[in-house]
Amino acid sequence: MRVLVTGGAGFIGSHLVDRLIQRGDDVRVIDNLSSGDLSFLEHHQSSEQFEFIEGDVCSTDDVTYAMKDIECVFHLAANPDIRLGTQITDTDLKQGTIATYNILESMRIEGVKTIAFASILLSTARMHLCQHQNITDLVCQFLFMERVNLRERAS
Ligand SMILES: NC(=O)c1ccc[n+]([C@@H]2O[C@H](COP(=O)([O-])OP(=O)(O)OC[C@H]3O[C@@H](n4cnc5c(N)ncnc54)[C@H](O)[C@@H]3O)[C@@H](O)[C@H]2O)c1
Repeated sequence: MRVLVTGGAGFIGSHLVDRLIQRGDDVRVIDNLSSGDLSFLEHHQSSEQFEFIEGDVCSTDDVTYAMKDIECVFHLAANPDIRLGTQITDTDLKQGTIATYNILESMRIEGVKTIAFASILLSTARMHLCQHQNITDLVCQFLFMERVNLRERAS
């Protein structure tokens, strides 16, 4: 499968890239190296399965370029410094909402159907809003049920 990993030079992203390459996927990474480090991906540089694009997911041009011929997206690029948002208050709007919009819009245009998205919001919501229930699990259950419902309706 041809996979795009946004934020692939980061902590989680670089480990994910290792696993994807190990299972035989062709992996393209887009990362602006703001908190990531290219040395995390050094061991893949000579691999034909691997491609690195230094780019910004806030730029529609960079995202459009990175999305060409992709089948699946793992969207991990984000500002990891949560406290920054209290000083530069549009940080999460740009790095979170607008960047994710750019990814989704570019997927729509290119016909890419699958995305996996790691959101700190769900983790935070789970901690603060729902101490006894796992919101991520609930969302997964909901999506699973929707899928079952759609299948039942289709048959
Ligand atoms: N680490 C955790 O405990 C944790 C927990 C829950 C969710 N998450 C989420 O997982 C994702 C990855 O987290 P991480 O710990 O690997 O963080 P990280 O900072 O190590 O990785 C983020 C990567 O995204 C890149 N990046 C940031 N802004 C970018 C932009 N505009 N364009 C392109 N690349 C950009 C950075 O250079 C970095 O390589 C984030 O979305 C984070 O919110 C992390």
